[in-house]
Amino acid sequence: MPVSDFQMVDAWTRVLKLSRLEAGQTVTILTSANTHPQTLSTALIATQALGAIVNRLDLPPVNGEKALSRDPLAYLGTTPLTGNRAAIAALKESDLVLDLMTLLFSPEQLDILKGGTKILLAVEPPEVLTRLVPTPEDRERVLAAQARIGRAREMHIVSAAGTDFHCPLGEFHPIAEYGFVDEPGRWDHWPSGFALTFPNDGQAYGRIVIDRGDILLPQKSYVNDPIELTVENGFATRIEGGVDAQLLSEYMATFRDDQAYAISHIGWGLQPRAHWSTLGLYDREQTIGMDARAFEGNFLFSLGPNNEAGGSRTTTCHIDIPLRHCDVYLDGEAVVRNGCVVNGGH
Ligand SMILES: [Fe+2]
Repeated sequence: MPVSDFQMVDAWTRVLKLSRLEAGQTVTILTSANTHPQTLSTALIATQALGAIVNRLDLPPVNGEKALSRDPLAYLGTTPLTGNRAAIAALKESDLVLDLMTLLFSPEQLDILKGGTKILLAVEPPEVLTRLVPTPEDRERVLAAQARIGRAREMHIVSAAGTDFHCPLGEFHPIAEYGFVDEPGRWDHWPSGFALTFPNDGQAYGRIVIDRGDILLPQKSYVNDPIELTVENGFATRIEGGVDAQLLSEYMATFRDDQAYAISHIGWGLQPRAHWSTLGLYDREQTIGMDARAFEGNFLFSLGPNNEAGGSRTTTCHIDIPLRHCDVYLDGEAVVRNGCVVNGGH
């Protein structure tokens, strides 16, 4: 169901105030071929109403002919900023960039952030954005989980479905995504609400069972036949099961890249306003599946790069896989039990 422009302006205003936007600061709104017109028009109103100096920067899409889907998170190749000195200069001179196109991680983006510019990604449809407007409480919860990960030496995940997966930690800093950008140089994504890190490179091991009803992204489908991943020395070395395992294997093989099978980010969802059922109600063109990523008590892991955390692995393939009904332990202490966040566990 649609939301009104008034609701979207109000949602933007709350997010911009949480992001400490002040009168006289410069905001650049990044757009491309897939930008939602209502998200753009209401961002223009809300930023100007708060007294910001506002620019639009529209960049042509890239990688469409290489990716196998229209999902903006599915293919991590070059970005429209690659080699684009004029665009990079405009973004570096901005206090805040509202990314309505999905810039994704790139050396150019990291360079822009280092200069103190904040970047907020917002590409889910307006009704999802208004339902999942972030709050200061979201921030507190996610920061507490981030701090808890930062003290741990190992994340261990088990489930009744058969998951028994070990991730030694310490090489990479934990990351908090709570949906707004209140510090200089911060990147975040509205909507979100989860904490994550990356296993020490080459050290994750065990077995992950993606159970019936769990979600594959960017496939944006609920799994029907369990998929079993064998993880050795940081890589998924076997993908076994029925037709869903076969489809996942075939999709990943199209990238022709061994690095695609590396365990990427790991963490858990903390957003009580995100719902598991939402994905089944949307056309695949309309959503990137943030409800599934942020769902409170999920275990979210992924396959692909670790350069987002400062690692050296890049690959164009990236699969996000949220699982329900897992236990997540940090150094033996449960932070999620059977898919429910343990109070005080972080
Ligand atoms: Fe991911």
